[in-house]
Amino acid sequence: MSDKLLLTPPLFVAEGTDRKCFRHPDDENRCVKVLHPDTEAGRFWREICYYSRLQRRAVDFRHLTPYRGLTETNLGKAAIFDLVLDDDGRISRSLAYYLAENDRRFNDWVVDEIEHLKQNFYDQWIVFHDLNPTNILVKRLGFDEFRLVVIDGIGHNHFIPLASYSAAFARKKLVRVWNRRYRQWYSTFPVVVRGLKPYPAS
Ligand SMILES: Nc1ncnc2c1ncn2[C@@H]1O[C@H](COP(=O)(O)OP(=O)(O)O)[C@@H](O)[C@H]1O
Ligand SMILES: [Mg+2]
Repeated sequence: MSDKLLLTPPLFVAEGTDRKCFRHPDDENRCVKVLHPDTEAGRFWREICYYSRLQRRAVDFRHLTPYRGLTETNLGKAAIFDLVLDDDGRISRSLAYYLAENDRRFNDWVVDEIEHLKQNFYDQWIVFHDLNPTNILVKRLGFDEFRLVVIDGIGHNHFIPLASYSAAFARKKLVRVWNRRYRQWYSTFPVVVRGLKPYPAS
Protein backbone atom coordinates (compact mmCIF):
# COMPACT_ATOMS: atom_id res chain seq x y z
CA MET A 1 0.00 0.00 0.00
CA SER A 2 1.23 3.48 -0.84
CA ASP A 3 1.34 6.03 1.96
CA LYS A 4 1.08 8.89 -0.52
CA LEU A 5 -1.79 11.28 0.04
CA LEU A 6 -4.38 10.95 -2.71
CA LEU A 7 -5.39 14.40 -3.95
CA THR A 8 -8.63 14.09 -5.92
CA PRO A 9 -10.71 16.76 -7.75
CA PRO A 10 -13.28 17.12 -4.93
CA LEU A 11 -10.45 18.22 -2.61
CA PHE A 12 -9.25 20.93 -4.99
CA VAL A 13 -9.43 24.44 -3.50
CA ALA A 14 -7.73 26.83 -5.92
CA GLU A 15 -4.74 27.32 -8.14
CA GLY A 16 -2.17 30.11 -8.21
CA THR A 17 0.66 30.77 -10.61
CA ASP A 18 2.94 28.09 -9.18
CA ARG A 19 0.86 25.78 -7.07
CA LYS A 20 -2.38 23.93 -6.66
CA CYS A 21 -4.01 23.95 -3.27
CA PHE A 22 -6.10 21.01 -1.99
CA ARG A 23 -7.86 20.21 1.24
CA HIS A 24 -5.90 17.66 3.24
CA PRO A 25 -7.71 14.31 2.78
CA ASP A 26 -7.31 13.37 6.47
CA ASP A 27 -7.41 16.73 8.22
CA GLU A 28 -10.11 19.30 7.66
CA ASN A 29 -8.00 22.10 9.14
CA ARG A 30 -5.07 21.69 6.78
CA CYS A 31 -4.33 22.22 3.12
CA VAL A 32 -1.76 20.64 0.85
CA LYS A 33 0.09 22.66 -1.79
CA VAL A 34 1.68 20.94 -4.78
CA LEU A 35 4.03 22.64 -7.17
CA HIS A 36 3.10 22.75 -10.85
CA PRO A 37 5.41 20.32 -12.67
CA ASP A 38 7.17 23.04 -14.67
CA THR A 39 7.84 25.39 -11.74
CA GLU A 40 11.35 25.77 -10.42
CA ALA A 41 11.65 23.73 -7.19
CA GLY A 42 13.90 26.29 -5.50
CA ARG A 43 10.91 28.47 -4.74
CA PHE A 44 9.25 25.60 -2.89
CA TRP A 45 12.30 24.93 -0.69
CA ARG A 46 13.03 28.58 -0.02
CA GLU A 47 9.50 29.12 1.23
CA ILE A 48 9.53 26.10 3.54
CA CYS A 49 12.89 27.09 4.87
CA TYR A 50 11.72 30.64 5.56
CA TYR A 51 8.53 29.51 7.32
CA SER A 52 10.51 27.05 9.46
CA ARG A 53 12.79 29.87 10.47
CA LEU A 54 9.86 32.14 11.39
CA GLN A 55 8.40 29.33 13.49
CA ARG A 56 11.71 28.83 15.32
CA ARG A 57 11.82 32.54 15.92
CA ALA A 58 8.29 32.24 17.38
CA VAL A 59 6.88 35.21 15.49
CA ASP A 60 3.18 35.96 15.86
CA PHE A 61 1.31 33.93 13.21
CA ARG A 62 -2.00 35.78 13.50
CA HIS A 63 -1.68 37.01 9.90
CA LEU A 64 0.10 33.92 8.51
CA THR A 65 -0.58 30.20 8.08
CA PRO A 66 1.78 27.87 9.99
CA TYR A 67 3.74 25.37 7.90
CA ARG A 68 3.08 21.78 9.04
CA GLY A 69 5.64 19.73 7.13
CA LEU A 70 6.23 17.96 3.85
CA THR A 71 4.31 15.09 2.35
CA GLU A 72 4.26 12.90 -0.74
CA THR A 73 1.13 12.93 -2.86
CA ASN A 74 -0.04 11.33 -6.12
CA LEU A 75 0.76 14.73 -7.71
CA GLY A 76 4.27 14.98 -6.27
CA LYS A 77 5.90 16.45 -3.21
CA ALA A 78 3.75 18.90 -1.29
CA ALA A 79 3.81 21.27 1.65
CA ILE A 80 1.14 21.24 4.35
CA PHE A 81 -0.22 24.49 5.80
CA ASP A 82 -3.20 25.44 7.94
CA LEU A 83 -6.33 25.95 5.89
CA VAL A 84 -7.88 29.40 6.37
CA LEU A 85 -11.54 29.00 7.30
CA ASP A 86 -14.38 31.38 8.13
CA ASP A 87 -16.46 31.04 11.28
CA ASP A 88 -19.03 29.00 9.33
CA GLY A 89 -16.39 26.45 8.26
CA ARG A 90 -16.13 27.62 4.65
CA ILE A 91 -12.78 28.35 3.05
CA SER A 92 -12.06 32.06 3.38
CA ARG A 93 -12.19 34.14 0.24
CA SER A 94 -9.38 36.28 -1.09
CA LEU A 95 -8.94 39.98 -0.58
CA ALA A 96 -9.23 40.34 -4.38
CA TYR A 97 -12.71 38.82 -4.19
CA TYR A 98 -13.85 41.25 -1.49
CA LEU A 99 -12.27 44.27 -3.15
CA ALA A 100 -14.07 43.47 -6.40
CA GLU A 101 -17.36 44.02 -4.55
CA ASN A 102 -16.28 47.64 -4.06
CA ASP A 103 -18.05 48.19 -0.77
CA ARG A 104 -17.14 51.53 0.74
CA ARG A 105 -17.10 50.35 4.35
CA PHE A 106 -15.00 47.33 3.48
CA ASN A 107 -12.55 49.44 1.47
CA ASP A 108 -12.06 51.85 4.37
CA TRP A 109 -11.56 49.01 6.82
CA VAL A 110 -9.16 47.16 4.59
CA VAL A 111 -6.84 50.09 3.96
CA ASP A 112 -6.31 50.37 7.73
CA GLU A 113 -5.87 46.61 8.01
CA ILE A 114 -3.26 46.46 5.25
CA GLU A 115 -1.39 49.32 6.92
CA HIS A 116 -1.57 47.39 10.19
CA LEU A 117 -0.33 44.19 8.48
CA LYS A 118 2.55 46.04 6.91
CA GLN A 119 3.54 47.43 10.32
CA ASN A 120 3.25 43.97 11.90
CA PHE A 121 5.61 42.51 9.27
CA TYR A 122 8.03 45.41 9.74
CA ASP A 123 8.07 45.02 13.54
CA GLN A 124 8.64 41.28 13.31
CA TRP A 125 10.95 41.65 10.29
CA ILE A 126 8.96 39.19 8.20
CA VAL A 127 10.11 39.58 4.62
CA PHE A 128 7.56 39.39 1.79
CA HIS A 129 7.90 39.60 -1.96
CA ASP A 130 4.30 39.62 -3.14
CA LEU A 131 1.37 40.95 -1.11
CA ASN A 132 -1.03 41.20 -4.03
CA PRO A 133 -4.69 40.70 -3.06
CA THR A 134 -4.85 37.06 -4.28
CA ASN A 135 -2.16 36.14 -1.75
CA ILE A 136 -4.20 37.49 1.16
CA LEU A 137 -7.36 35.84 2.43
CA VAL A 138 -10.05 37.59 4.46
CA LYS A 139 -10.93 35.34 7.37
CA ARG A 140 -14.37 36.01 8.80
CA LEU A 141 -14.26 35.59 12.57
CA GLY A 142 -17.85 36.56 13.35
CA PHE A 143 -20.48 39.09 12.41
CA ASP A 144 -18.64 42.07 10.93
CA GLU A 145 -15.30 40.83 12.25
CA PHE A 146 -12.56 39.92 9.80
CA ARG A 147 -8.81 39.30 9.75
CA LEU A 148 -6.30 39.37 6.90
CA VAL A 149 -4.25 36.19 6.52
CA VAL A 150 -1.34 36.04 4.08
CA ILE A 151 -1.09 32.62 2.41
CA ASP A 152 1.64 33.24 -0.16
CA GLY A 153 4.37 35.70 -1.12
CA ILE A 154 6.31 35.48 2.17
CA GLY A 155 10.10 35.13 2.19
CA HIS A 156 12.81 36.18 -0.21
CA ASN A 157 14.89 34.66 -2.96
CA HIS A 158 18.30 35.73 -1.81
CA PHE A 159 20.88 33.04 -2.34
CA ILE A 160 22.77 34.32 0.68
CA PRO A 161 19.92 34.59 3.16
CA LEU A 162 21.06 37.60 5.17
CA ALA A 163 17.45 38.74 5.42
CA SER A 164 16.72 35.58 7.42
CA TYR A 165 19.24 36.47 10.11
CA SER A 166 19.50 40.21 10.29
CA ALA A 167 16.51 42.31 11.35
CA ALA A 168 18.06 45.44 9.87
CA PHE A 169 18.71 43.76 6.54
CA ALA A 170 15.24 42.17 6.45
CA ARG A 171 13.54 45.52 7.14
CA LYS A 172 15.53 47.23 4.46
CA LYS A 173 14.46 44.56 2.02
CA LEU A 174 10.75 44.62 2.86
CA VAL A 175 10.57 48.40 2.86
CA ARG A 176 12.12 48.45 -0.60
CA VAL A 177 9.75 45.77 -1.95
CA TRP A 178 6.63 47.43 -0.54
CA ASN A 179 7.53 50.96 -1.62
CA ARG A 180 8.35 49.83 -5.14
CA ARG A 181 5.44 47.51 -5.70
CA TYR A 182 2.32 48.21 -3.64
CA ARG A 183 0.77 50.47 -6.27
CA GLN A 184 1.15 47.74 -8.84
CA TRP A 185 -0.25 45.03 -6.52
CA TYR A 186 -3.42 47.07 -5.95
CA SER A 187 -3.60 48.82 -9.33
CA THR A 188 -7.05 47.34 -10.06
CA PHE A 189 -8.36 49.05 -6.92
CA PRO A 190 -7.47 52.78 -7.10
CA VAL A 191 -9.41 53.56 -3.91
CA VAL A 192 -7.10 51.23 -2.01
CA VAL A 193 -3.94 52.55 -3.68
CA ARG A 194 -4.89 56.09 -2.69
CA GLY A 195 -5.31 55.05 0.95
CA LEU A 196 -2.10 53.03 1.27
CA LYS A 197 1.21 54.63 2.16
CA PRO A 198 4.84 53.85 1.50
CA TYR A 199 6.99 53.08 4.53
CA PRO A 200 8.50 56.36 5.69
CA ALA A 201 12.13 56.97 4.75
CA SER A 202 14.31 55.95 7.68
N1 LIG B 1 -3.94 28.21 3.57
C1 LIG B 1 -4.90 28.36 2.67
N2 LIG B 1 -6.21 28.33 3.02
C2 LIG B 1 -7.19 28.50 2.08
N3 LIG B 1 -6.96 28.68 0.76
C3 LIG B 1 -5.68 28.71 0.35
C4 LIG B 1 -4.58 28.56 1.28
N4 LIG B 1 -3.42 28.63 0.57
C5 LIG B 1 -3.76 28.83 -0.71
N5 LIG B 1 -5.11 28.89 -0.87
C6 LIG B 1 -5.81 29.12 -2.13
O1 LIG B 1 -5.06 28.55 -3.20
C7 LIG B 1 -4.62 29.58 -4.11
C8 LIG B 1 -3.21 29.25 -4.59
O2 LIG B 1 -2.32 29.18 -3.50
P1 LIG B 1 -0.98 30.03 -3.45
O3 LIG B 1 -0.27 29.63 -2.21
O4 LIG B 1 -1.27 31.49 -3.61
O5 LIG B 1 -0.21 29.46 -4.73
P2 LIG B 1 0.73 30.17 -5.81
O6 LIG B 1 2.09 30.10 -5.24
O7 LIG B 1 0.60 29.34 -7.03
O8 LIG B 1 0.24 31.58 -6.03
C9 LIG B 1 -4.73 30.87 -3.32
O9 LIG B 1 -4.90 32.00 -4.15
C10 LIG B 1 -5.94 30.60 -2.44
O10 LIG B 1 -7.14 30.80 -3.16
MG1 LIG C 1 -0.38 33.01 -4.82
